Amino acid sequence: MTELIHIGLGPRSYNVHVAPGIAAQAGALLKPFARGVVPVVTDNNVAKFHAAGVIGSLRAAGLEPRLVTLEPGEQIKSFAGLEKLCSLLIDSGVERGGLIVALGGGVIGDLAGLAAGLVKRGLDFAQIPTTLLAQVDSSVGGKTAIDMPQGKNLVGLFHQPKAVIADTSLLATLPRRELLSGYAEVVKYGALGDLQFFAWLEANAPKLLGGQSDAVVRAVAHCVRMKAAIVARDEREAGDRALLNLGHTFGHALETAIGYSGVLLHGEAVAIGMVMAFRLSAKLGLCPHADGDRVGHHLQAVGLPVSLDSVSPRPSTDELLAHMMHDKKATGGKLTFVLVRGLGKAVVSDDVPLAAVREILSA
Ligand code: NAD
Ligand code: GLY
Repeated sequence: MTELIHIGLGPRSYNVHVAPGIAAQAGALLKPFARGVVPVVTDNNVAKFHAAGVIGSLRAAGLEPRLVTLEPGEQIKSFAGLEKLCSLLIDSGVERGGLIVALGGGVIGDLAGLAAGLVKRGLDFAQIPTTLLAQVDSSVGGKTAIDMPQGKNLVGLFHQPKAVIADTSLLATLPRRELLSGYAEVVKYGALGDLQFFAWLEANAPKLLGGQSDAVVRAVAHCVRMKAAIVARDEREAGDRALLNLGHTFGHALETAIGYSGVLLHGEAVAIGMVMAFRLSAKLGLCPHADGDRVGHHLQAVGLPVSLDSVSPRPSTDELLAHMMHDKKATGGKLTFVLVRGLGKAVVSDDVPLAAVREILSA
């Protein structure tokens, strides 16, 4: 059965379709939004496994797909990568008002979404996310971006897709480390706003990570529903949407420090960052230490890193603090942090003493 989640954003509303095998219906689902050539943007890894099926489905629906393949990895989320993609899209013959399909993980989704917002002053796009991270988070909500040497996602646009097709069976080809990286974002939803879901994950992680279809669909749909509710009330992150950044201020600083090099995947950095956010919250007297221990224990139990000691070489406290000050969540020289008043109760705070952050980073 398909889980259908509506992202209610007035004229920018769309549906997220979650089901195993649903990519076979991509043509029928996207036909209403397509005209002329439909570039399908993907990377070499994803293309190997999943491009033929999607291209075939689009063709069967009478569309004109053109495969646009990029090299995999975070480093393509750069000005050079954006220039390359924009050029390939223009060469593809996509027309003004046409549709682009982003077939891939968060990297392809973020980059293709941004290019769609820019090429010919704005094309439509659809997401067919192929990683767990992209299915539960990055394909929904319209954040698109490239990274800068100063920090992650610093150049981008809000550009909502026309549809998201989350085919959970595409995850079967995902390397285990990538699956786990996405799982960190799944845990994030429980940790930020749903203790019951967190407890469900503690009990069901082996099924989910073992690819049991019901568990995967249930988790993906649950996360998308949580994100839908948050995005619907705060599309442009003026308030509540920042809750989705639990663990990300620490995590982004780490990713920047290691130069997006693959030493740490995004979700791995978020896992470490989440534990640090709980530790910081406990240090500030907001939540019991035991909550941070519980989150750390679960992340560790599934095989995710939870401390800076697992990063080699370990970035210095000063370096991480400097990256945090550059992060776009720093306003007026103060750091904005997502803290927790307990498991499942995240809050945004712009009043965090730097000394406490320094202590957490040096621990
Ligand atoms: P990714 O896109 O780099 O994909 C991970 C790796 O898996 C890549 O090597 C890719 O080629 C490969 N891959 C993807 N799908 C596959 C499949 N089905 N089978 C085999 N291999 C497959 O990484 P990601 O973790 O999906 O995304 C991380 C990015 O997402 C980061 O840049 C992060 O900033 C961004 N992000 C964006 C948002 C947002 O709201 N826009 C939210 C969270 C994260
Ligand atoms: N992943 C954070 C957001 O979409 O706002």
